[in-house]
Amino acid sequence: MESFIVEGGRRIEGTLRVDSAKNAVLPLMAASVLTDEPVTLTAAPDIADVRSMADILSVLGAEVSRQGGDIHIVCGGLRSWELPDGLSKQIRSSIFLLGPVLSRFRRATVTFPGGCEIGLRPIDLHLTGLKCLGVEISEEGGLIHCDGRNMRAGEIHFDYPSVGATENAMMAAVLLEGETVIHNAAREPEIADLQNFINAMGGCVSGAGGQTIRIRGVKRLRGARWKPMPDRIAAGTLMAAAAITGGEIILTDAPCGDMVAVTAKMREMGCRICEEGDRLCLKAPERLKAFSVLQTQPHPGFPTDMQVQMLALLCTAEGTGVVVENVFENRFTHAGDLNRMGAHILCSGRTAVVQGMPRLYGARVTARDLRGGAALVLAGMRAEGVTQVDRAELIDRGYDHLERQLTALGANVIRRTT
Ligand code: EPZ
Repeated sequence: MESFIVEGGRRIEGTLRVDSAKNAVLPLMAASVLTDEPVTLTAAPDIADVRSMADILSVLGAEVSRQGGDIHIVCGGLRSWELPDGLSKQIRSSIFLLGPVLSRFRRATVTFPGGCEIGLRPIDLHLTGLKCLGVEISEEGGLIHCDGRNMRAGEIHFDYPSVGATENAMMAAVLLEGETVIHNAAREPEIADLQNFINAMGGCVSGAGGQTIRIRGVKRLRGARWKPMPDRIAAGTLMAAAAITGGEIILTDAPCGDMVAVTAKMREMGCRICEEGDRLCLKAPERLKAFSVLQTQPHPGFPTDMQVQMLALLCTAEGTGVVVENVFENRFTHAGDLNRMGAHILCSGRTAVVQGMPRLYGARVTARDLRGGAALVLAGMRAEGVTQVDRAELIDRGYDHLERQLTALGANVIRRTT
């Protein structure tokens, strides 16, 4: 097991370039299945989920290699439409392969992706979208068999703007003759990145970022070289690191336009933030002020993936704040560990009430998911004494050596194998 040892009381100060977004790179890797020609994703972060997706593509028969920050994928030799059970369970985003594999083979078999700490993570919306495109779906012994021999363009209406279901439907439709329309589509910026990548491959997709996406089918797609969009959640996490330590940070390659909700909340807490193009500067007060309420929502609302980092900021802020988690059913799993560090968090269902305390104390705590683990590291950076965050391998799923990034900015976070 990997642990992060965090020394409290050190201010964050410095400049860092924002990595490419995990939640953009993963669907883009899945979309490489749509062409036999080489695809290159540049400046891709070296994180566990990206490595797992590469392993899955390799098992399907793709050639996947990394040169520096670039990932090269060639799916010309793809031979299987059966997503590997063990690997698929490792990362939920393997479900994004359903649409592109169906596009290519007109059939696909996938394991029911497991739930995780933050919720059951059902895939009913994914399957509804595919059924609207004529896919016949049967389930047997934990496997989902998709028969796409009668696939055709169609109209999809999602009851909820699911990110993954929207991405799956887009990739399932790109090679279907005619026009597919997705209503109540997710509006996350990663959807627009996927649209733009598919169009760079010769596809014809429009409307991403809005509630209605239109896909006009084309006969084939070509390879492409693509720089995925910057990671708005990794950027927000680094901003939170500066905010919780009373520090200041400059982020370059920052997706400022995609982070308006996060920036607004940080300003509400007393941070001075200036933005110029893709450069963001944040200067934090010695002690933050509690915001009154934070509600997570689908984009452009406040992103659920930044919720627990903001919960950590509230722990030592002046005043009391309320956080309502509307997207996932169980995303306060780190409140207990934060309370063990001296926080005063009261959780009831999807609501947490946080009374800000003058200080936190170092403790031994455990990451349960990648965002919560990162939040525990942030809390440790504010706490008096040393904090040990166990299961740091969960944090590695979404952050490229978070300990190195924070240490380069003045923190003292050491990785230890325990
Ligand atoms: C994506 O997950 C992200 N993951 C998540 O980031 C992110 O939290 C989430 O979108 C919301 O923004 C990737 O992009 C790889 P959803 P996804 O489908 O697609 C329910 C992180 O930390 N739902 O929009 O799985 C679901 O249970 C991760 O980087 C259904 O009910 O999210 C949840 O309550 C965590 N049925 C809500 O919708 C379905 O078929 C949002 O899920 C699908 C989803």
